[in-house]
Amino acid sequence: MTTTRPPLSIDRLIGELQSLAQISEAAPPVVTRVVFGEADLRARAYVRALCEEAGLTIQVDAIGNTFARWQGSDPALAPIGTGSHIDAIPNAGLYDGCVGVLGGLEAIRVLQQLGFKPRRSIELVIFTAEEPTRFGIGCLGSRMMAGVLTPEKALTLHDKDARGLEELRAQAGFTGTLESVALPAGRWHQFIELHIEQGPVLEDERIDVGLVTHIAAPASQRITIEGEGGHAGGKLMPGRKDALAAAAELILALEAAAKASGAIDTVATVGVCEVFPGAVNSIPSRVLITTDVRDIDRARRDRVLDALQTACKQVSGRRGVKIITELINADPPTVCDPAILDALEESAKAAGKTYKRMVARAYHDSSFVACIAPLAMLFIPCRGGISHRPDEYASPEWIGGGVHVLARTLAELAS
Ligand code: GLV
Ligand code: MN
Ligand code: MN
Repeated sequence: MTTTRPPLSIDRLIGELQSLAQISEAAPPVVTRVVFGEADLRARAYVRALCEEAGLTIQVDAIGNTFARWQGSDPALAPIGTGSHIDAIPNAGLYDGCVGVLGGLEAIRVLQQLGFKPRRSIELVIFTAEEPTRFGIGCLGSRMMAGVLTPEKALTLHDKDARGLEELRAQAGFTGTLESVALPAGRWHQFIELHIEQGPVLEDERIDVGLVTHIAAPASQRITIEGEGGHAGGKLMPGRKDALAAAAELILALEAAAKASGAIDTVATVGVCEVFPGAVNSIPSRVLITTDVRDIDRARRDRVLDALQTACKQVSGRRGVKIITELINADPPTVCDPAILDALEESAKAAGKTYKRMVARAYHDSSFVACIAPLAMLFIPCRGGISHRPDEYASPEWIGGGVHVLARTLAELAS
């Protein structure tokens, strides 16, 4: 690229982010878009129309991953990819994922307006269901693309209303065999995901962009505790098998194990706790909790999982409850590609942006893209490090800075 000031239309981009946020299952400012729900489908249609307006060629795979391609002059070459997700957890904000999708689109439009002619195609990807809300597993679309989640396993997934993946994707209009979702290695020559940091480092240190070198290794489990129900007044304390009291012990044991790891990078969360029958005057007979454990060091993360297993055995023995653990995923950490990181650094310098190399603590579709293509992530700051909340915020300047660096790098890599 010859200019240091691309014709980035930050007002257009912010307007589109805000319009996308209006497409929600909840009243503004809350964004909730659960995969294959009505809001998810409307949001997809909105973004697709913007991509078509920009002259991109659209393809959608059998799970709904969407590919919007700006054709390069040499179609024989593998494209450069960029993108993220537009589904949103319950009670979310408007930047997580969407900055990478609409920011990626804006980067393409900037390059088009500059008259840039890519040699390699540049492909914007909107991944299906990065969030685990509906099916309990994160990065559904990218996981299947990478072949990490097989079609057989995918067919066993269902939501809390026992509706299966097959039924829900068909109802959403996604057809074709699930086998066709997996992509070969080399599908993209290189791939960059732009994302908000979801942590405080960049804002605290007043740095424009983060160049992500590693993505933390996430693991999640579903744990069912089966005790014995009964009347909250009639049944005396000795001999109770209260499933929720047992769950409480497990939650605290998990927290203690994460805190005892010796590293600030170990985090553990129980974000779901379903109590049956859920009546004020009834002893809980069954409880379902989910665990989410992450670390940039896989062995250290696995030690927390082991500690939780030990706690399950102890609590089960001591309280006489049955504890069933089901591992949903235990993914390795991701190492980003040094050549892409160097290209991002050069672009940041040329754009006059401050930058730092850092780790990603949230998980991202990028971890699965990395199985089939060299990959790196580009972070921008978000206020107070807040994410997965309606007050998530990234300023137009921060977003503009990220898109500027992304556009320059895409141009460099596609030349
Ligand atoms: C993704 O949203 C995550 O939970 O890291
Ligand atoms: Mn998220
Ligand atoms: Mn995200």
